Amino acid sequence: MHTSQMKNRILGLMMFNVLLFILVDISMKYTHVRDQNSKVRIPSTRFWKKLTVSEAFWNRRQQLLDHIHNPLFASAIAAGNDTLIDAATIPAGILAWINDTSPEDPCAPDHSMASRVKDYDQLPQRFKDFLRYMRCRSYPMVLNVPDLCQEPPFLLLAVKSLSPHFDRRQAIRQSWGRAGTFAGHKVVTVFLLGNAASTDHFPDLSGMVQHESALHGDILQWNYRDTFFNLTVKEVLFLEWLHHSCPGVSYVFKGDDDVFVNTHRILNYLGGLRRSKSRDLFIGDVITGAGPHRNKKLKYYIPESVFQGNYPPYAGGGGYIYSGDVAMRLYNASQKVSLYPIDDVYTGMCLQKIGLLPEKHKDFKTFNIDEKYRDNACIYSALMLVHSRTPQEVIQIWSWLQDPGLRCQAVTKVVG
Ligand SMILES: *[C@@H]1O[C@H](CO)[C@@H](O)[C@H](O)[C@H]1NC(C)=O
Ligand SMILES: *[C@@H]1O[C@H](CO)[C@@H](O)[C@H](O)[C@H]1NC(C)=O
Ligand SMILES: *[C@@H]1O[C@H](CO)[C@@H](O)[C@H](O)[C@H]1NC(C)=O
Ligand SMILES: *[C@@H]1O[C@H](CO)[C@@H](O)[C@H](O)[C@H]1NC(C)=O
Repeated sequence: MHTSQMKNRILGLMMFNVLLFILVDISMKYTHVRDQNSKVRIPSTRFWKKLTVSEAFWNRRQQLLDHIHNPLFASAIAAGNDTLIDAATIPAGILAWINDTSPEDPCAPDHSMASRVKDYDQLPQRFKDFLRYMRCRSYPMVLNVPDLCQEPPFLLLAVKSLSPHFDRRQAIRQSWGRAGTFAGHKVVTVFLLGNAASTDHFPDLSGMVQHESALHGDILQWNYRDTFFNLTVKEVLFLEWLHHSCPGVSYVFKGDDDVFVNTHRILNYLGGLRRSKSRDLFIGDVITGAGPHRNKKLKYYIPESVFQGNYPPYAGGGGYIYSGDVAMRLYNASQKVSLYPIDDVYTGMCLQKIGLLPEKHKDFKTFNIDEKYRDNACIYSALMLVHSRTPQEVIQIWSWLQDPGLRCQAVTKVVG
């Protein structure tokens, strides 16, 4: 380095220091830090953004829940003290919600929805059904396995299923959901069912499901209508069950009954986790920057009168894994998040509430894999989850992976 360059540098540094001194000096004068008699200044006017009541029903309901669970307002609302409620500046629109005309029993059909959701009459029937029952979170349990976690499992595989899907459940029992102890890790499988209600003209399969439960002891069933929009009910009921009946579980896999899961690969992954990472674990096929679909023909359609805004990052409902610790926090958070008709988005909302970002893992293929790899055993050996597979395919893929002669090398890169 030339000496002239060096001089310039030193000069520059000195100038910078002088400027910095002036800046600090000015800012200190402004904040009166030097003033010996200075006090902490409390703003005399509101400095936060005024809350405007949302147009969309779900958002409004969540605004109310946020207020109720805001520790500042909670005591005022509990005391029903109007003075305090006013002081807590709950906007009138929200206040009207507190005094709504919904039935006291959250599980009684809420007919007030017709007047409270803007275009209620034009909504598809499934939205009316959802809205009328969206405050209800407790349904009686029909089938339980109370002592499933007496000895807490390392990994609990919780599979969302429907009563008539006997073949899917059996394929899972015979393959990736085979309960047992692998390399010292206890693995347990349960199937989560609602009720195929007689009101939907389904044949009555309750006797067969009872028989299946007696045979395998792996069915959790609650008495509510098992529809797509009620999958969120399944989620909150399962979280509650975990909280009460399986708090010692190390990890939970929750997914669909039409996926292939490489349980051994998952056990390997979980077994190798560092302690710091394992506590906050939530991995899956994470979708970021998504929002509600506004096309009425889509399964995931959500009208603007029901929800506005973007979705938080969430893991596709085909299957994801989280720690037992996260499960307990999710249960807590779920009580503060209004039910949403799409279950995986709902779980994303609960994660956001506890400040946890779900992590995308490349080995979860909820949108299937390239056609040319679908018969390649080595591809499956390197993945954790593939959606979707028939019961027969599930058993076949599993048998490939059990072959002691299977030799796989460096195939992970080619999967699309
Ligand atoms: C409501 O709270 C205010 C302020 O703490 C108190 O002065 C008033 O007595 C309370 N009113 C009732 C009905 O409890
Ligand atoms: C609550 O409802 C009652 C009866 O309908 C009404 O008299 C009262 O003004 C309402 N209060 C608020 C805060 O809306
Ligand atoms: C959810 O389940 C409840 C209880 O069975 C039922 O009344 C309601 O219609 C269901 N909701 C949907 C959207 O199917
Ligand atoms: C759940 O919430 C309660 C209070 O709201 C808190 O005492 C408890 O520690 C929380 N549990 C977990 C696991 O976060």
